[in-house]
Amino acid sequence: MKLVFATNNPNKLSELQALVPDGIQVLSLKDINCNEELPETNPTLEENALQKAQYVYQNYGFNCFADDTGLEIEALDGAPGVFSARYAGTECKAKDNMQMVLKKLENEENRNAKFRTVIALIVDGEENLFEGECKGKITKNKSGVEGFGYDPIFTPEGCEITFAEMSKPEKGAISHRGRAVEKLVGFLRV
Ligand code: IMP
Repeated sequence: MKLVFATNNPNKLSELQALVPDGIQVLSLKDINCNEELPETNPTLEENALQKAQYVYQNYGFNCFADDTGLEIEALDGAPGVFSARYAGTECKAKDNMQMVLKKLENEENRNAKFRTVIALIVDGEENLFEGECKGKITKNKSGVEGFGYDPIFTPEGCEITFAEMSKPEKGAISHRGRAVEKLVGFLRV
């Protein structure tokens, strides 16, 4: 079965391609000649994931899925959450976002946080949502060069190292995205 992954994030695409079984061929937006920014203008991960998937389904006619992810930090009342991509400003980079988090938690003992991913799947017009989360802690400093986004400052529960110090398969086995994909694959029974 072929599914388009509605993302412009090459890191998410390669994580996904490593997670799904051979029975699912994951196509990129480039593969379908979609070179646009996808809209994500809603206040929840669920709505944003659906919005991105609907955009591709309605404009390009492919069965597809999209993921929206947020980092929810306990001491910051769940922030940055749905605003994780733009926490330090609209034009900011991952390092600016991490800097912002580390600064806000400078004198904070409670480092608890979790990543939450929602995947919206559309197959022949039928929509389904799958959620995955990964609890952990925000580190005091950045560590590691793998992964992307907030990975260098997040240590998953039960681990001594950050996501950015793990290989793709190691991260995928315990990550928010890995767990959501597991549910997606179970649903598709491929
Ligand atoms: P979005 O799902 O593309 O909107 O991502 C929201 C923000 O979370 C972006 O800044 C991403 O870089 C970051 N992000 C998404 N997934 C991950 C992840 O698996 N690890 C670390 N950061 C992530």
